Amino acid sequence: MPQSRIAGVGHYVPKNVVSNNDLLQYMDTSDEWIQERSGIKERRYADRTGETTATMGVEAATIAIERAGITPQDIDFIIFATLSPDYYFPGCGVLLQRAMKMKEVGALDVRNQCSGFIYAISIADQFIKTGMYKNILVVGSEKHSFGLDFSTRGRNISVIFGDGAGAVVLQPTEKAGQGILSSHLHSDGESAEILAMYNPGTHANHWVKEKVADFGDAELGEMFMSHEMIDNAQNFPFMDGPVVFKKAIVKFPEVVMEALKANGLETKDINLLIPHQANLRISQFVQHKLHLRDDQVFNNIDKYGNTTAASIPIALSEAWEQGKIKEGDLVCLAAFGSGFTWGSALLRW
Ligand code: ACO
Repeated sequence: MPQSRIAGVGHYVPKNVVSNNDLLQYMDTSDEWIQERSGIKERRYADRTGETTATMGVEAATIAIERAGITPQDIDFIIFATLSPDYYFPGCGVLLQRAMKMKEVGALDVRNQCSGFIYAISIADQFIKTGMYKNILVVGSEKHSFGLDFSTRGRNISVIFGDGAGAVVLQPTEKAGQGILSSHLHSDGESAEILAMYNPGTHANHWVKEKVADFGDAELGEMFMSHEMIDNAQNFPFMDGPVVFKKAIVKFPEVVMEALKANGLETKDINLLIPHQANLRISQFVQHKLHLRDDQVFNNIDKYGNTTAASIPIALSEAWEQGKIKEGDLVCLAAFGSGFTWGSALLRW
């Protein structure tokens, strides 16, 4: 059975750099608070009308495809991970297929937030192993800046997130021990509402004790979005930061160890751990718990903030460009996020 290897990787971030101090014009916050709690110094925001989640995905995909030595017409399956799609439906995969003039190949959108990229490459890996596809494009992209609450009310969330995209091309390899060694996916829906954007949605307050959506009393319609929901700022994401933090610092190391154990390896064997760039404090905690050296962990959240489904492929692409990943290296990707969902993938480059 073939294994899947990353044949090309690329990333794209918007030109517009937004520093912590730039955010002061919208909300009551400080550079000191943001850096101390998250390690973030700046992030990028997409051009409001000129760039979308799908267009940034196209930019990243173009680089990944070129580096894989193929053309967009060679891609035989698309997986697009995002929580900030251009449209409620259809997904971004088809917009990318159209924009890149690809063949009429399958296009799947993944809705797994921060762990979306891990889920996406795990799915791609299964298709490659069975021999079904030979060139799978996996994209993670987010345009968070279009959907955050930039008033002081939303500051605990809005300062953390940034825009950008990353992509990889997966291809089969027959070389023993190369490529994705294993992937491990998990979920625990018990805390689904802890980090969530409830609206627009069809939940009609079914799952919550305190109402999170003021939809009108019309017999039909108005369930997705009402004027009241917008007036009451119910169209923004919600996060209980401390609860997320506590769970993340347990599940991140757990899922890294699960990947290592499944392959008879130890933390000292890791050349580079690329954690989802949730928060520098989370990554540092994970590094400490796993007794990893600084050179074994890649962080770039200081420059881009948390780009959710895009954070791992952006970091992977940067690490590769900086020569931090060489042939034969053991690379571990790990993510934790909304759902909660979490996962890891262990790769021999
Ligand atoms: N600037 C200034 N003050 C702020 C800001 C801000 N941007 N945001 C919140 N505060 C204030 C709060 O109002 C609160 O003030 P109060 O004590 O007077 O009420 C105080 O800071 C502490 O608020 P908390 O929400 O308890 O802040 P905490 O110290 O937990 O830090 C943070 C928030 C950074 C989000 C932290 O909880 C955390 O790291 N959580 C992990 C979650 C995370 O990183 N999520 C990223 C996305 S999810 C993912 O990718 C997995």
